[in-house]
Amino acid sequence: MESTMKLPLLGLAFGLVSQVALAANAAPALQDKQAFIDHLLSQMTEAEKIGQLRLISIGGPEMTREKIREEIAAGRIGGTFNSRTAAENRPMQDAAMRSRLKIPMFFAYDTLHGERTIFPISLGLAASWDLNAINQVGRTSAIEASADALDMTFAPMVDIARDPRWGRTSEGFGEDTYLTSKISETMVRAFQGKSPAERDSIMAIVKHFALYGAVEGGRDYNTVDMSLPKMYNDYLPPYRAGIDAGAGGVMVALNSINGVPATANTWLMNDLLRKDWGFKGVTISDHGAIKELIRHGVARDGREAAKLAIKAGIDMSMNDSLYGEELPGLLKSGEVSTAELDHAVREVLGAKYEMGLFKDPYVRIGKPENDPKDTYAESRLHREAARDVARRSLVLLENREQTLPLKKSAAMAVVGPLADAPIDMMGSWAADGQPKHSVTVREGLRRALEGKGKLLYAKGANVTGDKAVLDYLNFLNFDAPEIVDDPRPAAVLIDEAVKAAQQSDVVIAVVGESRGMSHESSSRTTLEIPATQRALIDALKATGKPLVLVLMNGRPLSIVKEREQADAILETWFSGTEGGNAIADVLFGDYNPSGKLPITFPRSVGQIPMYYNHLSIGRPYTPGQPGNYTSQYFEEPNGPLYPFGYGLSYSTFALSELTLSTTELQRGEPLEVRITVQNTGKLDGETVVQLYLQDVAGSMSRPVKELRRFEKLMLKAGESRTLTFTLGEDDLKFYNTQLHHVAEAGTFNVQVGLDSQDVQQQAFELR
Ligand code: NOJ
Repeated sequence: MESTMKLPLLGLAFGLVSQVALAANAAPALQDKQAFIDHLLSQMTEAEKIGQLRLISIGGPEMTREKIREEIAAGRIGGTFNSRTAAENRPMQDAAMRSRLKIPMFFAYDTLHGERTIFPISLGLAASWDLNAINQVGRTSAIEASADALDMTFAPMVDIARDPRWGRTSEGFGEDTYLTSKISETMVRAFQGKSPAERDSIMAIVKHFALYGAVEGGRDYNTVDMSLPKMYNDYLPPYRAGIDAGAGGVMVALNSINGVPATANTWLMNDLLRKDWGFKGVTISDHGAIKELIRHGVARDGREAAKLAIKAGIDMSMNDSLYGEELPGLLKSGEVSTAELDHAVREVLGAKYEMGLFKDPYVRIGKPENDPKDTYAESRLHREAARDVARRSLVLLENREQTLPLKKSAAMAVVGPLADAPIDMMGSWAADGQPKHSVTVREGLRRALEGKGKLLYAKGANVTGDKAVLDYLNFLNFDAPEIVDDPRPAAVLIDEAVKAAQQSDVVIAVVGESRGMSHESSSRTTLEIPATQRALIDALKATGKPLVLVLMNGRPLSIVKEREQADAILETWFSGTEGGNAIADVLFGDYNPSGKLPITFPRSVGQIPMYYNHLSIGRPYTPGQPGNYTSQYFEEPNGPLYPFGYGLSYSTFALSELTLSTTELQRGEPLEVRITVQNTGKLDGETVVQLYLQDVAGSMSRPVKELRRFEKLMLKAGESRTLTFTLGEDDLKFYNTQLHHVAEAGTFNVQVGLDSQDVQQQAFELR
């Protein structure tokens, strides 16, 4: 009785309370999630339940928009993705409100590093090692996406990537478990705000569960084979961190895991995710992944694929063709039970409930009169935040003879195929970012130099001279090819750039990858800068002018030769809408670079996989003691070109000796690690103090070191500060061969440094 009384009041309070509850007899109060969903479920026909499990792509070839609206009104679609304005989504929600039970739709999109204002790609965000900045990216993205009627984002993408041939390395946060986990929870909280039900929040869908970053050979969509301890210790924690931070859902990976595709993997989704981790949200397949179970060779046909997926725990089918077609038959024959169907439907309704859609289906769509007049208006952007974050993501790799910062009075040449490339500034998965809003490097330099110095520009080279590669990269963009090829001969382009260089005091070459080279389905067999651009660098070097390389890329590049040629190298990833301004800020010293690599840069592709936290081995290569029968490649120097955690500043920093509060740690007690860091240079600046741990002798081989804490701090020139890191027993734990999470007694090394290799070390014993 009490609950039925509440509804009209709620209706008054919220104005738009979903008609679902009002229509039903004795509908429970909206506040009681479980009762509300149970009641709704009891009203649904089987067809309506199946409809809720279907997630449909907008703009795809499969269904016109009109057809989609018809299907929604008939209760045959649960949510859509890829539409991105209120004007597009409102008619679909209206259609849902015409359906029998008026169950609201949700609208999803891949908002990874900004929606309209594009921030640096995820790998660049990780390079900032700045959780406040990353929080700002997530919040701003949620504010912009929700203002355009989006309820859900397929992000964060937290796949650990240790094989940079994989193009999606750009979408994740690098090779490290701890750094990625911290960013995962930060992003989830930032997207979801106080709650995913808030008007300016979007629900986070952590992806790709699981281990997608470990595809064999770095070739996209390939298989993953991995030991359980490696999975539990290195690859699973970032997903768990996002889930523990409250992510509303999980997107399931396209790859198989030890022979069983994730999409059909009962162990993964039911035993691990739901039972062990207690996950309560919605699981969504990746695009067409259920159908792919046939090609994976685990399902005979579509019927079996749908059956495997729902039984394994896939609630929603993205770009569905099979749930809609096959579930009715499977239910009829009893191969799929009503309980299994209801379980999946409950999760979808639960997610909609959490997004606040039952309370107000139009919470993010708003009223037509409030729709922005111009979706792409400049006033809708958050440029200041984008510039601030972009500056923090840039990593200074080389700076010989203090080539940088540059003087604004100089005459300079900016050259290279990426110097004036608005699309590439945004990187892949740039949501609804508009190239016309991008500040390119050329434009950023022009603005900074205006009235002070001279700037010449020449393209100098095409991104690639390989026609087949060009065609591949432009394959999906028939209307307006992403990479515009200059038809002039390579020598003519180079000549033009050399002339510009000769008339300048310094040359800035913006080189690397086009954004499509670091994308889904863009795996590479080499990490080199394409040959056309390397020829340009050779020619520029020959001019004798100081040469600054500005790298744009979404993965580590092997730049052994370029490192020798360049006087300075700035790694800029794909730095977003304000990238050009941010890069100019660093090149001219208006911002002192502070980024650190979130992923190892190998010397060559042959060294892969190369990551700093590898396990100890019996015959390690020992620098300074060359010889046979140790683990090494004999044709080139061993070790990385640039290690994880590395990055320079215009200032210098020194660390004092490291002290531990005890060398005998009792379980349950804290260990305090103290170190003083001093800015020993002439400029104020930020650095990142990194703390690594090594479990020296365990029941199984353990990593040579693992990041366990970090702190980014600003120090004025000459200033010093003492940092105290507190560690506990939990920080010493790992999953052993039995998958028990244990801290084993014995010696641990604590290492602290400003990168992963140049560290100070002290030991303690865990009793
Ligand atoms: C496929 C990608 O693998 C996934 O990351 C993305 O979220 C979906 N497509 C939707 O765009």
